Amino acid sequence: MEHLIITGQKKLEGSVYISGAKNAAVAIIPAAIMANGICTIENLPCIEDVACLVDTLKQLGAKCDLSEKNILTIDSTNINSYTATYESVRKIRASYYLMGALLGRFKKAEVALPGGCNFGTRPIDQHIRGFKALGAEITIEHGMVKMSAKKLVGAPIYLDVVSVGATINIMIAACMAEGVTIIENAAKEPHIVDTANFLNMLGAKIKGAGTDVIKITGVEELHGAEYMIIPDQIEAGTYMIAAAISSGDVTVKNIIPKHMESLSAKLREMGCNIFEGDDSIRVVSNGNLTPTNVKTMAYPGFPTDLQPQMTALLSIAKGTSLLTENVWDNRFQYVNELKRIGCNITVEGRMAVIEGVSELTGAEVNATDLRAGAALVIAGLAAIGSTKIGNIKYIDRGYEKIEQKLSALGANIVRSAE
Ligand code: EPU
Repeated sequence: MEHLIITGQKKLEGSVYISGAKNAAVAIIPAAIMANGICTIENLPCIEDVACLVDTLKQLGAKCDLSEKNILTIDSTNINSYTATYESVRKIRASYYLMGALLGRFKKAEVALPGGCNFGTRPIDQHIRGFKALGAEITIEHGMVKMSAKKLVGAPIYLDVVSVGATINIMIAACMAEGVTIIENAAKEPHIVDTANFLNMLGAKIKGAGTDVIKITGVEELHGAEYMIIPDQIEAGTYMIAAAISSGDVTVKNIIPKHMESLSAKLREMGCNIFEGDDSIRVVSNGNLTPTNVKTMAYPGFPTDLQPQMTALLSIAKGTSLLTENVWDNRFQYVNELKRIGCNITVEGRMAVIEGVSELTGAEVNATDLRAGAALVIAGLAAIGSTKIGNIKYIDRGYEKIEQKLSALGANIVRSAE
């Protein structure tokens, strides 16, 4: 079992280069199943979720080649199966995009219910509603979602909840439906725009991605294309928060500063200086942090995927902060682990009350999910002494070379095999 061991209290300084967006990659790779031709995807993050999806596509019969420069070519010509088993998809939540992509291509799909991080109920009813509206018949048997349609026909679909996954999944399948699909109350996250841009490069006709109404006019065929994935908003945010907690001076490079606005605003409120470049943000912190209140919301609100990292940061602010989680019903499971590092946090339902403490102290802790793992790393960077983080398979799902990137900024962090 590998661990990350951090000896804290090192000031982070310098530049860090942000990888491609995980949550765009995990939608774009399955979407390539529908292309009649070769897709070349650049700026792919080198993370476990991507490796897992590439394996799944290979099992379906696709030819995939991942270069050392993080460029993936996918030739889906010979895909001959519409079934993704539990064994191949259990590790990742985003395996649900195989449903939309296989349904679009074969008008049939059998995909095991997704795995992934556990922070409360993670239903897919809105995905299913959307596929049904497009004409699919759907049953769920023995943990497999089985879908089939004689043909897919475009339809108006109003999402009952703003769901990133349902928006993307329905958008993917609707590309291959006859006629027009309109998704209302759609989510607006950057990776939705990125997936739509990728599909449009393949010949799809999608308009309005990034707004709450997306119009998709179906086409008969999609072709191959070259595409470069956007930078990862959440990885960027994690390093910005790491800079803030370590009294650091860090420039986060290869990002889209607009995607970071909700976090930049909060860090400024807390007393950090934020300098925006065209594709970079510099965060300068003197470690003297003011408490603040944060509410997570769908984009452009404060991202739930930065909530645990923000909790770690607020733990050393001078006073009391409130953090309200509005997206997931149980995303505070990691708090007990942060408490072991000395954080003073009380959770009441969807709200965490965070009392700033004057110092954090290293401890042995376990990651309970991907972003929870990132929060432990951040707390460890500020803690006195050594923090040993277990269950780092979660961190590896979404952060490329985290210990190398942090070490290059001056952190004392190593991966140990013990
Ligand atoms: N929801 C439903 N029904 C559905 C789908 C969602 O009720 O059919 C509810 C959920 O229970 C939740 C809310 O809607 O309360 C939002 O869920 P959403 O569908 O937007 O989440 P997701 O697509 O499963 C993606 C990211 C998550 C991120 C959320 C919210 C991917 C692969 N995952 O999940 O990212 O937290 O959007 O922004 O894109 C992460 O990267 O660490 C991560 C968990």
